[in-house]
Amino acid sequence: MRTFDARDVVARKRDGETVGDGDIEAFVRAFTAGEIADEVAAAFLMAAYIRGLNAGETLALTRAYVSSGRTIGLRSIERPLVDKHSTGGVGDTVTLVFAPLAASLGLAVAKLSGRGLGHTGGTIDKLEAIPGMRTDLSAEELERQVGRIGCAVAAQGADIVPADGRLYALRDATATVASIPLIAASVMSKKLAITSDLVLLDVKAGSGAFMKTPEAAAELARACIEIARAEGRAVRAAVTDMSQPLGRAIGNALDVAEAVDVLSARASGRLREVVETLAAAALTSVAGAGEEEARTRAARSLDDGAALERFREMVEAQGGDPRVADDPGAVLPVAAVVHPVASEGSGYVSAVDAEALGRAAAALGAGRRRKDEPIDPSVGIVLRAGIGDLVEARQPLALVHAADADAARAATDAVRSAFTLSGAAVAPPPLVLGWLE
Ligand code: URA
Ligand code: CA
Repeated sequence: MRTFDARDVVARKRDGETVGDGDIEAFVRAFTAGEIADEVAAAFLMAAYIRGLNAGETLALTRAYVSSGRTIGLRSIERPLVDKHSTGGVGDTVTLVFAPLAASLGLAVAKLSGRGLGHTGGTIDKLEAIPGMRTDLSAEELERQVGRIGCAVAAQGADIVPADGRLYALRDATATVASIPLIAASVMSKKLAITSDLVLLDVKAGSGAFMKTPEAAAELARACIEIARAEGRAVRAAVTDMSQPLGRAIGNALDVAEAVDVLSARASGRLREVVETLAAAALTSVAGAGEEEARTRAARSLDDGAALERFREMVEAQGGDPRVADDPGAVLPVAAVVHPVASEGSGYVSAVDAEALGRAAAALGAGRRRKDEPIDPSVGIVLRAGIGDLVEARQPLALVHAADADAARAATDAVRSAFTLSGAAVAPPPLVLGWLE
């Protein structure tokens, strides 16, 4: 038997050769055990980023990630389990609305989420803006809560796909995140580590997403679907627009308040539309509903308060203040300074640089540049205009919620430059760009 040499694996990928399943598995196992130095792993990641991984290598990497930690069985759950995953965006609050909505429709959602990094926000940071909210549920607590109320959103523990956790931090440090096979293996390993009857992927495309074009997003969706298929997991993927932030809020408390607005039918618009579309897709796939009926049921649950009630139960079950469901403004932390960003000219908003807004929100303290940095739950940005809207000179484009006047001033220019105005009318982009399965 040939002995395993990590440098040999790096060299073969560097030269564009295919690395065998056994070598990928051995590489990830040795890295997880601390037997491969970070610089060797980083070199492999860069080689994989530049040369790519074929479908077989991507699947082997995914399997190696899953085997690096524990898996969660959820055997006591009788309702259809749906694992919705959005691939990272700006101001993306889909999970906070989707989980209770799906639960109110008779489905079960046991969602493990992450914290934000870079310009993208994290669901766990958002939830923790709710006073008292616990996200460090044990696997047993997660299962019990989902059995009782149909949904739970918890932080993914370090014992689930630990290899991905460590390699993701290295990718973040070495500019090797935005690779389709590396993202597909990372995302799908986390989906495969926990039982579900359906993996529902919401792959973002546009200026705020890892994939900047619908074509690249579709390619990522196909890579994820191929992995799910090989593992016998039912899967559907929507490509949705992230050419501007989803909804109006970018932050943590601000995003929770926005989610409550959608759950209580005070807000319609693009966030509601994405969540309704995903919930309807789940109902048709695992509960046998017709398409129109599914859509009607999802809308009704938002309109009649059933989804909001599940949200309240979920918050309460996780130790959070349930009054957030009735009056988010009275419960959530509030920023010291709210500063309007006035438009310099007038015209139709033709483009919004969502990544720039994500970075501006992170600089205000809503996100982190490095893993383990603290965040400020109260700060962020609330948009007053989106693509297609007509704005007049001096009218606010957005409100900056900041810890102090200096931070607000610093964010103002970045926020203003994120908007492009045009003299001609512009149609807002379509929201659901396509489905793949
Ligand atoms: N989200 C993940 O979980 N992994 C990636 O690689 C990118 C986004
Ligand atoms: Ca939002």
